[in-house]
Amino acid sequence: MPILNKNKIAIFDSGVGGLTVFEKLKKLVPEGDYIYFGDTANMPYGAKTPRQLLELTVNAFDFFEQQGAAYVVMACNTTSAVVYDKIKDRYPFKIYPIIQSVASCLPKVDKLGVFATQATVDSGAWSRHTGVPTVEIACPEWVKMVEGANVDLDNIQSKLNQMLAHNPDKIVLGCTHYPYLMPVLTKFAPADIFIDPSACFAEFIAADLGQVSGGGSEKFYVSADEQTFVCAAEMFYRVKAVSRISLPNHRQLDG
Ligand code: DGL
Repeated sequence: MPILNKNKIAIFDSGVGGLTVFEKLKKLVPEGDYIYFGDTANMPYGAKTPRQLLELTVNAFDFFEQQGAAYVVMACNTTSAVVYDKIKDRYPFKIYPIIQSVASCLPKVDKLGVFATQATVDSGAWSRHTGVPTVEIACPEWVKMVEGANVDLDNIQSKLNQMLAHNPDKIVLGCTHYPYLMPVLTKFAPADIFIDPSACFAEFIAADLGQVSGGGSEKFYVSADEQTFVCAAEMFYRVKAVSRISLPNHRQLDG
């Protein structure tokens, strides 16, 4: 069994979404040694079944375990909603799931709007963890818009109008890819109606981490084309070097 390196923090997402969390965490904990994995070959996660999401997460987490990560940041709402409960006790490292970690720091409101992936909406996780009446709308096209850097304004405006018709007090961007669309969303609605949970999530993790005193290194891994990731990432983080890996599907799942 690999030895845990208490300075090593892994970040997990299906693609560039987790960078919205990583860039904030890196500022708060610059001495962390980070490994980022974006499972771009299997993106979008929002269209996957619970069983597929469990397998993909286990493949990634086995990799993080081999790398000696002491902390794993689930910077993916979809796996936090669908997989976290099934694997939370399986690994030697501490896991931070985004939805569960930020639910209590949201402003107290009467009605919350949530834009999220289809799998997250189907799980009902946001309303369960916040305890607030929520209107949840799936935006399955948005992840690919971000990853492919081609924005469909009509689609975004129409989802937003659908949401605003319910008069939510605030709208949570319940997928880590969606903050990339803020420049577009704020064309059609005031910026202060949106909640990007990444800042609160990064603060929660930074406050909870033990003593971290590594060298501030960062390594990025993806499962599909490296350059596509670097380009899509640009708005949130200038990724210098990224390696493409193919993770073995080597563990028999028991449930
Ligand atoms: N960024 C992830 C999330 O927060 C996954 C999006 C996807 O691949 O569908 O849910």
